[in-house]
Amino acid sequence: MQQAEMVQRENWRSRLGFIMAAAGSAIGLGNIWRFPYLTGMNGGGAFIVIYLMCVIFVGLSIMIAEFAVGRKTGLAAVGAYKAHNRSWSFAGALGVLSGFFIMGFYPVVGGWSLAYMIKSVTGLLSVPEAIPDYFGAFITAPTEPLIWMLLYLAINVLIVARGVAEGIETAGKILMPTLFALLIFIIFRSVSLPGAGAGLRYLFVPDWSQVTGQTVLAALGQAFFSLSLGMGCMITYGSYLSKKENIPSNALTVVTMDTTAAIMAGLAMFPALFSFGMEPAQGPGLVFVVIPSLFAQMGSMGVLLSVIFFGALTIAALTSSISLLEVVVAYLMDEHKVERRKATFAASTVMAIMCILSSLSMGVLSGVQIFGVGFFDFFDILTDKIFLAIGGMLLAIFVGWFMDKEELRTELTNDGTVTFSFFELWYNLIKYVIPVAIAVVAAMGIAAIEQTSLMIFGLLVIVVLAIFSKKL
Ligand code: PFF
Repeated sequence: MQQAEMVQRENWRSRLGFIMAAAGSAIGLGNIWRFPYLTGMNGGGAFIVIYLMCVIFVGLSIMIAEFAVGRKTGLAAVGAYKAHNRSWSFAGALGVLSGFFIMGFYPVVGGWSLAYMIKSVTGLLSVPEAIPDYFGAFITAPTEPLIWMLLYLAINVLIVARGVAEGIETAGKILMPTLFALLIFIIFRSVSLPGAGAGLRYLFVPDWSQVTGQTVLAALGQAFFSLSLGMGCMITYGSYLSKKENIPSNALTVVTMDTTAAIMAGLAMFPALFSFGMEPAQGPGLVFVVIPSLFAQMGSMGVLLSVIFFGALTIAALTSSISLLEVVVAYLMDEHKVERRKATFAASTVMAIMCILSSLSMGVLSGVQIFGVGFFDFFDILTDKIFLAIGGMLLAIFVGWFMDKEELRTELTNDGTVTFSFFELWYNLIKYVIPVAIAVVAAMGIAAIEQTSLMIFGLLVIVVLAIFSKKL
């Protein structure tokens, strides 16, 4: 999506255009790479149940609130907060910082996906037994993953610097349905393998014995990450939404698409994983091990499908990461009057450095730790477990306590022309339930977390932002 052009163009050209762009931002590595591996690391079914509760009771309400704030003010994140109350600009700035740090590891995984698209043709699938070890060797190598990451990041830069996202939006419109279709195909394949039932039971029969405060925080963080919430991205999208559009129903569509994609990814992978006798808690390599192993059984047809799968995954990742880069670039342009190209190159240069550190932390730099974790985990935990959830909590407090209830009703019912029967429920969730729930979950998670120093650092950053709020 493109800020420059859209500033002039008043609204999204069509409802479909808006849904596709918002869903394009939401559906990405978070759904296909992150959701299945977190499910595997957090015990399966119980994690999914908690995740769904977070999506329904927190994610959907926050998305409605972000769209409403964006459309009401017609401004992107920082501006939207600032327009209302200057001392709230830190909440917007926190979002920009989240986007910036997520771009410190997202392109590393985007690079893996790009690499696997090409590697599918160059022999990755020819020795099925070697696929699991290959992934470990690939990501820990010192140079190869860096090249793919830089290539991936360069594509982002080209798109955002030119401010012309038409190509990628068109590619998304074709490849997103392709990804869905492929997932359906893979699900059928996966569930028909011998021993697949164990995978289905793992996904749908919750084992509550493994649930801790950490599990709940992981599920909440994943809901924010996957839905692109808690960092102002959807505020920006909402600012381009036509006054005629029904916000709650648009939000429901985006949330449903995103959640369906995540559940489908789980359904595609776990039956096959159990059938192959693999370990569910293997971590970030899950999609890169299970999917190629599955396709490896299908001869040359498998090679073709693997190329299409990782190609579609790369495009899904791109439509998400350009929205992340755009959040940072739009901030530099709007608030600091930096020209688009300069803003893009400056931001992406720092992102490239962070990504190099993240990528190397898988291998040669694995011994280097900051706040008790490697670079990749540092950027990941900082954003996903702290910044996004707190960003969401701040937004809920802002909307619930600092905006006028009747104005919100007018915004969400388009001046009374559409009905939003759940308005009171939504309002009470935003005003009372969500801030308290996030605070409790964050406290439980923080108490259970090993990286206390990292948590304290994250909270300190937020305090510092709040103190310097007026300068942001
Ligand atoms: N939602 C994206 C994904 O699931 O891959 C990641 C993301 C994009 C997070 C944009 C936050 C954001 F603002």
